[in-house]
Amino acid sequence: MSRTSETAEEAEQFFQAFHKPGLGYDKCVAEYNKVVGSYTNSATAVSYRGPRYCAQMLSGLIEDITNAQVLDIAAGTGLVGQELRKKGFTHIDAHDGAESMVEYCKNTGFYENFFVSFVGDGHRLPIKDKTYDGVTCCGATVENHLPPSAQAEFIRVIKPGGFFVNAYRATLPDCEYGKNWRAEAQKLENDGKWILYGRLAFTKFNKFTDANLTQQWLQRYGWEILPHLAQSLDLAPSAFHLFGSLKRHLGGMAFETEDELISELRNWFDNLDVDFFRVGINSLLSRWQKCIHLHGDYVEK
Ligand SMILES: C[S@@+](CC[C@H](N)C(=O)[O-])C[C@H]1O[C@@H](n2cnc3c(N)ncnc32)[C@H](O)[C@@H]1O
Repeated sequence: MSRTSETAEEAEQFFQAFHKPGLGYDKCVAEYNKVVGSYTNSATAVSYRGPRYCAQMLSGLIEDITNAQVLDIAAGTGLVGQELRKKGFTHIDAHDGAESMVEYCKNTGFYENFFVSFVGDGHRLPIKDKTYDGVTCCGATVENHLPPSAQAEFIRVIKPGGFFVNAYRATLPDCEYGKNWRAEAQKLENDGKWILYGRLAFTKFNKFTDANLTQQWLQRYGWEILPHLAQSLDLAPSAFHLFGSLKRHLGGMAFETEDELISELRNWFDNLDVDFFRVGINSLLSRWQKCIHLHGDYVEK
């Protein structure tokens, strides 16, 4: 496993190594134990924004931020603690399975109490019931990390009326692990243990996946960069044809379950023919020109 990450691409490889199929959380945590010195660098190299989103969400939910007791699960090097501090939280405890990560957190000054333990799969947090107003977890809901059964432990240590904020990559629901995680979350809701309050999708969990990576590929292949609006780097005329058509197709439909929606989407994508894409590609030039000339004030129905 690479120990230093000079570029965003190396850093992404650094993180992917922890997701290797079959690694398991004990070996994964053992690896985290060895990389405490380079973790924050790698997170910075991929412009990792999960901790900021996580703190932002919790601060929007909790009224008495100054007195709130918060537990940061799988705290790593304390990036969430840092963001929580910026939001005014002062009573934050750090938890992680990797001892060296928790040792590192002790020197950050963001946290009050510290816990080294696995969680889930029969591992109990060394914490009393109903201790916290808020529990955060960022970047640890992924293959080889927290097992789905950890969620019941989070509920156990949260006070009635408290909140759990979980920040994870948008790709999570697609994989087997993600399905199991969400099935367990749903089961806990069905059992009246918590209410699944809402899900917000941020398109840039880390900026690397778009801007940084794009820059690297542009340089590598010497591609020409067409003019674009300074504040709208993501404005993509190529998305309009596909998603505009999809929006029209879904208009007026109602779905009882997420599976029904997924099945409808699969059908729709499967039935798109070559001409659909030909029309979309052929109209790219005029759409791009419109974007530029209208300075992004681009509405087409
Ligand atoms: C990607 S890091 C996230 C760190 C921090 N929350 C952040 O967003 O920067 C994942 C952390 O989860 C911890 N971890 C993974 N699986 C765990 C488990 N089953 N029990 C306890 N800690 C675990 C690792 O040791 C590591 O520090």
